[in-house]
Amino acid sequence: MRPSAAIRATGLPAHEARQLLAHVLGVDLRSLPLVPRVSDADAAALAALAARRRTGEPLQHLTGRAFFRTVEVEVGPGVFVPRPETELLAGWALDVLRAGPGASAVVVELCAGSGAISRALATELPGPEYHAVELSGEAWPYLVRNLAGTGVRPVLADMAQALPELDGRVDLVVVNPPYVPESVRDTLPADVLHDPDLALFAGSDGLAALRVVVAASARLLRPGGWVGAEHDDTHGATAPALFAAHGGFTDIADHRDLLGRDRFVVARRAPRPDAGRMTP
Ligand SMILES: C[S@@+](CC[C@H](N)C(=O)[O-])C[C@H]1O[C@@H](n2cnc3c(N)ncnc32)[C@H](O)[C@@H]1O
Repeated sequence: MRPSAAIRATGLPAHEARQLLAHVLGVDLRSLPLVPRVSDADAAALAALAARRRTGEPLQHLTGRAFFRTVEVEVGPGVFVPRPETELLAGWALDVLRAGPGASAVVVELCAGSGAISRALATELPGPEYHAVELSGEAWPYLVRNLAGTGVRPVLADMAQALPELDGRVDLVVVNPPYVPESVRDTLPADVLHDPDLALFAGSDGLAALRVVVAASARLLRPGGWVGAEHDDTHGATAPALFAAHGGFTDIADHRDLLGRDRFVVARRAPRPDAGRMTP
């Protein structure tokens, strides 16, 4: 069978069918146009994957991999599939590091999941001391494998108490926490619900994890250090308000994604109240 016929037979959008076919054939997506024919066995394997995809199984679970900025990570059941909109948060983090402490920075990613953000940061800007904190025992093996060889230190811990040895020393905290309000669970598309509950839901208002992020970043950051946190597109006002209410942050601002939706909040740790005071 010609590859184009096998792709059409799946009934999936062509870009998805092409990725599945490349996966079945074990070739790079760019090499697919060079494949002359698909064997019956490979066509059957493609059809089986396409059937699973049509029931809502995420494409990335079927191929076992996801792309994020300049890197690829292993994903599957038990770990959150990184989303393209989070690439902007990672880009902001790189801008902060390049404009500020650069290679001497201490960087902590909270809620690291597959480690896509940390892997991208460490690949695009090697040098800083990177730590990636994750609570889930199911996500942990993916995190360890995806960070192998990057120099990023994976940490299995609750972000609320993680890395106490870094308190007050961190230059940048970056985090994509769970932020879906429980109240919208029944309205979510089927493929989203393949992500673990711990990665998605954050209390009735979707802000429970962000409240922990505010406290954890206040504890970890040095004065002048930055935090960037992704949030639900309905939290464009409430997420910045949480940082403002803490009282220990300045330069609080919200950023939009490429579709114009409120997407992540940034804030800077205020100088300590007694900083600069003369000792009598
Ligand atoms: C939305 S996912 C983000 C994963 C990854 N950073 C990304 O952007 O693809 C949120 C992650 O936070 C983790 N998580 C939830 N509560 C946590 C906590 N208290 N401490 C550390 N990680 C937590 C979940 O297990 C999940 O992996």
